[in-house]
Amino acid sequence: MKPQVYDTIPRIREAVAAARAGGRRVAFVPTMGALHVGHLRHVERAHELDPTAFVVVSIFVNPLQFAAGEDFERYPRTLDDDVAKLETVGADAVFAPTVAEMYPDGGALVTVNAGRVGSAFEGKARPGHFDGTLTVVAKLLQIVAPDVATFGRKDAQQLWLVKRMVRDLDFTTAIEEIEIVREADGLAMSSRNRYLSTDQRRAALALSQALAAAESEADAGIDAVLAAGQSVLSDAKGVDVDYFAVVDPTTFSPVPDGFRGQVITLVAARVGSTRLIDNARFRLG
Ligand code: PAJ
Repeated sequence: MKPQVYDTIPRIREAVAAARAGGRRVAFVPTMGALHVGHLRHVERAHELDPTAFVVVSIFVNPLQFAAGEDFERYPRTLDDDVAKLETVGADAVFAPTVAEMYPDGGALVTVNAGRVGSAFEGKARPGHFDGTLTVVAKLLQIVAPDVATFGRKDAQQLWLVKRMVRDLDFTTAIEEIEIVREADGLAMSSRNRYLSTDQRRAALALSQALAAAESEADAGIDAVLAAGQSVLSDAKGVDVDYFAVVDPTTFSPVPDGFRGQVITLVAARVGSTRLIDNARFRLG
């Protein structure tokens, strides 16, 4: 069955309330649309966790998380396609509000501050991005009030910050982490991949290849890991690297010399005018 599409806050709340009245738990998958297989995996996972859950997917390109000069205007908006894809994985409802529905006053006066971690890495390159992201996630969690919400490891810093917001601000929603879904050649799926030309698509492989090269030095320690990743990236043509870093998943800060334990390697680069990010998790040392 085609998921029902709701574009107002009262309507989606009504639909969620009706599902709850019928004894169903509520799972929530927030997205900006232009859906790919990685997004659909979230819906499948929600069903795996609870086969009778009422699964709500939001599709909203949130202006608050785009800085001036970013791709807010050209971000792909493909609602009909998205709804057809969501039908194949059995989503129950789509919440696709307008900007005016979400921000009737033209924005939010009171917002969530993503703190120190919000201004590192992606937040350094995109000032205000995580404040805008956490603000819309907070609103969406208030609107849908789900038992569980899924977030992808593809956006590792976003995932870390959402989990931290939920902990710091006592949201009751459980956060389910979804593994990165990749193309056959290793490129992490992203709505922004559709901006890439054939040559850029090939160049973009340097990101996942750098992460793989770095991980292959996991036993040798942090210096070897960094050198291996950087060497792949500096050899790549048409890839303008913003950062390549190894962070401690508990603090999201770069690991010190001699660190042993679980790490996340992060990479961000511009290929043409498209900003791409990727990451990998492994044990160092
Ligand atoms: P969007 O980029 O559409 O991503 C929606 C969700 O899908 C996020 O949790 C993201 O991490 C996840 N995702 C993206 N690519 C993935 C992949 N290759 N494999 C698995 N999961 C993937 O992230 C956002 O939207 C927005 O910031 C949002 C949270 C909706 C707030 O506006």
